[in-house]
Amino acid sequence: MPAAKHKIVTAFEGIPQSRSLETYLKHGGYQNLKKALSMKPDALVDLVKASGLRGRGGAGFPTGLKWSFIPKDSKERYLVCNNDEGEPGTFKDRYILELSPHMLLEGMIITAYAIQSKKGYVYTRCEFYEEIEWLNQAIDEAYETGYLGENIIGSGFSFNLDHYIGAGAYVCGEETGMLSSLEGKKGYPKLKPPFPAVAGYLGKPTIINNTETLATIPWIIEHGAEAFRKFGTEKSPGTKLFCVSGPVKNPGVFERPLGYPLQKLIYEDAGGLIDGKELKAVIPGGASSPVLNKEDVMTMKLDFESLAGAGSMLGSGAVIVIPHDVNIFDVFKVTADFFHHESCGQCTPCREGTGWIANILQGIEENKGSPADFERIYKIATQLMGRTICALSDAAAMPARGFVNKFRDELNAYIETKRNTR
Ligand SMILES: Cc1cc2nc3c(=O)[nH]c(=O)nc-3n(C[C@H](O)[C@H](O)[C@H](O)COP(=O)(O)O)c2cc1C
Ligand code: SF4
Repeated sequence: MPAAKHKIVTAFEGIPQSRSLETYLKHGGYQNLKKALSMKPDALVDLVKASGLRGRGGAGFPTGLKWSFIPKDSKERYLVCNNDEGEPGTFKDRYILELSPHMLLEGMIITAYAIQSKKGYVYTRCEFYEEIEWLNQAIDEAYETGYLGENIIGSGFSFNLDHYIGAGAYVCGEETGMLSSLEGKKGYPKLKPPFPAVAGYLGKPTIINNTETLATIPWIIEHGAEAFRKFGTEKSPGTKLFCVSGPVKNPGVFERPLGYPLQKLIYEDAGGLIDGKELKAVIPGGASSPVLNKEDVMTMKLDFESLAGAGSMLGSGAVIVIPHDVNIFDVFKVTADFFHHESCGQCTPCREGTGWIANILQGIEENKGSPADFERIYKIATQLMGRTICALSDAAAMPARGFVNKFRDELNAYIETKRNTR
């Protein structure tokens, strides 16, 4: 792989025709697959465990540990790449496909070998028109050259891969909703346990990993666990893709070591705010992560522990910058509407609660609010947490509580301004 500081999944940045198989091979592509195929599957699982890699899809679950949950006596196993990228503000997985779809494929084939899966799926949302084509082309190339299919490069190991295009429902990014969708059913999440690693696709053990997680695997095979741990922090090793959006001079995707200062990401890498705007707040990990105020931003480190310690989360790494001239109420409302719209409706707290929050905010916007409304929203949100089939309900509740916690004065002032115009 082309070597550059802090570059693992973005190693092909700036390389012409980076998506082609020819370019990938020229830069050592599929050599890590060869190396992995010469190792014992369990040794690969141990290596990924030792690297400390944590899932990049949002929850940060240790990847090697997840792989080790597959029951030893199971014969039929599946691998699914979560390429749904539905978390608002997130545009990192598509960037991997823009740079190097073969890196994802190599990571998937290595993972399939490590967990001894013969069949895998990539689940991509339908809005990614170009990325779908790029990945399809890479899959065709990999089949033509023997990196996918039967007896991969003469190793005796076989792995077949299908590309499944989802309809773009947020809930289908949740792993069990995704499995229902893959099984041809409505994308309803399923109760856990059993977890997919034990009973997943068609009831068989299934490993579901995010695109960024899987694309990191070849680098770990090439450089080893210790080299990976040189980036990031002890509990959050490695690098992470951060998607910076909002009114900044240089929005985009940045690969940085975990533990990176949020202030530096916004003011140096993303160039600071445009047109003399002042920072008001930041949503650090996609719409489901609780908002940070300006004071938090100045000292915050971007890793799983630091953000959790501040009552927020690293999530998908989608850093949404909110300037001084944007009303927090508007951000709150658009977020609440999104979660209400995306609730699949199976669980009463989520189906009703997300609607109640959205309706109260609608009432405030229509000048029918009272200061007690935000207290009510906070209580409703608390009732949404930890009581449902999947975590969409928590994903709706956490930011709602976060807005009330961090911006209660501004929200109450908004109601007052509205009331004065009655
Ligand atoms: C409502 C909801 C939406 C999700 N959307 C995504 C998504 O778009 N992409 C993703 O990788 N993970 C998403 N997740 C997390 C997945 O359920 C799962 O944890 C992840 O794919 C596991 O991969 P990882 O261990 O590599 O992070 C979502 C979770 C929830 C609750
Ligand atoms: S929590 Fe919400 S989205 Fe998840 S299964 Fe229940 S109703 Fe559906």
